[in-house]
Amino acid sequence: MAPMTRQFSPNGVPDQKVADYYRRRAEGGVGLIITEGTTIPHKAASSAVQIPCFHGDALEGWKHVVETVHAAGGKIAPQLWHVGAIRKPGEGPYPDYPSASPSGYIKPGKQVLEPLQANEIDELVAAYTQAAIDAVRIGFDAIELHGAHGYLIDNFFWEGTNIRDDEYGGDLTKRTVFAQKIIKSIRAEIGDDFPLILRFSQWKQQDYESKLAYTPEELEQFVMPLSDAGVDIFHCSNRRFWEPEFEGSALNLAGWVKKITNKPTISVGSVGLTEEFIATYREGTAEVAGIDELIERMEADEFDLIAVGRALIANPDWANKVKESKMDELVTYDKEMLNTLV
Ligand SMILES: Cc1cc2nc3c(=O)[nH]c(=O)nc-3n(C[C@H](O)[C@H](O)[C@H](O)COP(=O)(O)O)c2cc1C
Repeated sequence: MAPMTRQFSPNGVPDQKVADYYRRRAEGGVGLIITEGTTIPHKAASSAVQIPCFHGDALEGWKHVVETVHAAGGKIAPQLWHVGAIRKPGEGPYPDYPSASPSGYIKPGKQVLEPLQANEIDELVAAYTQAAIDAVRIGFDAIELHGAHGYLIDNFFWEGTNIRDDEYGGDLTKRTVFAQKIIKSIRAEIGDDFPLILRFSQWKQQDYESKLAYTPEELEQFVMPLSDAGVDIFHCSNRRFWEPEFEGSALNLAGWVKKITNKPTISVGSVGLTEEFIATYREGTAEVAGIDELIERMEADEFDLIAVGRALIANPDWANKVKESKMDELVTYDKEMLNTLV
């Protein structure tokens, strides 16, 4: 299950309804649930009070979610999140606290904040690390770091929001230093055996056409330092899993990252649906689509795991239905479904 923010956690604490929502997907045959983004212990991490936190009282709530999913035979990883530059003034549980971004940019050329100081960056690394320690302690099966879509870690990755001239800025490899520090710090605490996933994307919510890497060589300069720092699995966020990443090859982003790093990768994007996810925010629905091409690509070992998002909101038992070839029982995804937690 792909991570999907739902904002149904009262005051940031996931409750029984949240546990039941994930239980239904575990019962429905999902192998690994990656939770909605859940915010690290930092006052600027969250942009809304109903987004689940990953600190304080919320940890008891998450422990119950984990136990519930395990009892249903599932596995679950929290997606550890800091929204970075995306948080507007006054948003989130600490409205007066300033947002955080490497150079204070929300998008290229638009500086809205002071750049982060080095000691503030150290605090952020410590906050990610604390969240990872807590994830292990309360029984999660893996950890995913949200390094995609224009949020904090991606604000460091992207030249459009990172113009620092210290150790955290510079070329594409240098812009991974913040993430490398987080990964190494987490590894030092949780050991080598606990699975650590990093989600990243070429696209940004600030600019869907933007990319971090324009060639396979650039992609290597980006992923290898992260791989060496201790990432086990790369979750390569695409809006359409079938799109070739670079000219001259049919491989998608997850295919390229697997080829370069030799590590397992997760692909994602419009599985089982006719429309990609940004379009459905506007247009509302996505019809059920077949998965033949997905199966071909998985059988060819292009990538190892596939994340399914909206199809699982519409059909909690999507995995079992597909396994049993009951495609005709799957229902259309409608954005109205986001108004309730079913
Ligand atoms: C309602 C909604 C919330 C989302 N929230 C997150 C999130 O918290 N973290 C994240 O990395 N991606 C998030 N995404 C992106 C999904 O994880 C996924 O990449 C995207 O929906 C494409 O998959 P799909 O076409 O199967 O839905 C969200 C998508 C939707 C529709």
